[in-house]
Amino acid sequence: MIWFVTEDGKYRIESLTSKTFAGALRVITEGLWQNEAVSIATEVDKNPKAAEELLELCADAALDGVSLVAVVVKTGEVVAALFSKIKVKTPSEKPFFEIFMKERCTQASSLALVNFMADFYGRCNLFELYNVDCSFDLMFLATLQEYRKQNLGTLLAKYSIEVARKVRDGSVVPMNVAELGPKYSHLKKAKGVETYPKICQTLCTARATQKLIENFKFKVHLTVPFSEYVFDGKRYTERIGDENAICQIAALPLYES
Ligand SMILES: CC(C)(COP(=O)(O)OP(=O)(O)OC[C@H]1O[C@@H](n2cnc3c(N)ncnc32)[C@H](O)[C@@H]1OP(=O)(O)O)[C@@H](O)C(=O)NCCC(=O)NCCS
Repeated sequence: MIWFVTEDGKYRIESLTSKTFAGALRVITEGLWQNEAVSIATEVDKNPKAAEELLELCADAALDGVSLVAVVVKTGEVVAALFSKIKVKTPSEKPFFEIFMKERCTQASSLALVNFMADFYGRCNLFELYNVDCSFDLMFLATLQEYRKQNLGTLLAKYSIEVARKVRDGSVVPMNVAELGPKYSHLKKAKGVETYPKICQTLCTARATQKLIENFKFKVHLTVPFSEYVFDGKRYTERIGDENAICQIAALPLYES
């Protein structure tokens, strides 16, 4: 589904499909694992095997059918992607990440990145804070370097929030495992969700996304300096190269209460 075409006709925001899946993974590989703060801090940027393992989190999210891409209209090239996931309240966030770490991560870097996500989400229970049973997680956002600062991240976030609101009316179609290709044929198909997201949530590790959520009036519920985290003997901030770098969890209610 096409959500938006920019006024100059250059870019299209559309739902992720089997046709754009490989391009979206390329954006995550080149744009996220190479440039994002936690990926740098845990040296995922230097470890292709770890980066490859972590792509499975994107594939798993893709199955929910709520991820979006920005495509160059002329060429069809995917230049930005936002992988989102519908999360239903379970006793804790940990089991999914724990299983993923145990079964899929062979590298210290991939283990550390997933562990960071599990730890960070474990510090702020948005289901309880908002008293909701389902949330829409804007999980992995990246724009290829040469396409940044052209509003694509903002457009992806804006239309992802619209997608989040549409889950309620049943118009969102999950992707089939087969659409992701043979590499991910071992994944389980998306569970039919009997509820719908009441909030949108995100874990923000970049200044740009911290700006972006401020623009969308998300409420920040947790701010932690990256200096608190350590990987392989170095504080995260040392590899990130910014002593003041912070990470935030923020949320936005999707409906008026
Ligand atoms: C974060 C990222 C996706 C933003 O993509 P983008 O397409 O450049 O986003 P936009 O052009 O819509 O910019 C979003 C906002 O961030 C601001 N911004 C963009 N780059 C910025 C930077 N390096 N520092 C501070 N603010 C920045 C923009 O000015 C804009 O705010 P405004 O509308 O108030 O001016 C992109 O920088 C990226 O891929 N980074 C590496 C991966 C990453 O860190 N992902 C996010 C993990 S939470």
